[in-house]
Amino acid sequence: MPTYSFKVNGKAVKVTAPAGMALLWVLRDKLGITGPKYGCGMNVCKACTCLVNGTAVTACSTTVSSVQGQEVTTIEGLANGDTLHPVQQAWLDLDVAQSGFCQAGQIMAAAALLKKTKTPTDAEIDAIENVCRCGSYCRIRSAIKRAAAAG
Ligand code: FES
Repeated sequence: MPTYSFKVNGKAVKVTAPAGMALLWVLRDKLGITGPKYGCGMNVCKACTCLVNGTAVTACSTTVSSVQGQEVTTIEGLANGDTLHPVQQAWLDLDVAQSGFCQAGQIMAAAALLKKTKTPTDAEIDAIENVCRCGSYCRIRSAIKRAAAAG
């Protein structure tokens, strides 16, 4: 089996795994990083969203071989030490989460959006496809705007 080297949350890792193994299982089962959640396993719910080189991807549909030499960030690596990312802080301030299952993915998708634009429009926020079964979309939108304003 091949060995892949990449970074997760700023730390270099080496993982021996089949080339087609989903990044989600590498993160959760081989590296013990459980922020990215398993919902559908088919690139629909987005509960497994993490960043590869700053771009949001679904870890269930990203192979470990494709992240060779890349920089993976999960919710565990989003804060800067003890200082929460503005999106995380806004989520807390507005008490966004209900069940919470989708929230790590929602926050990572929002963080990726704010990397692309500092002033996201409603249409850009609506283009985030992460599913929330609790229907917390109004608070998610407010939190993204609050995080954008916080800069
Ligand atoms: S578990 Fe990855 S998109 Fe649903």
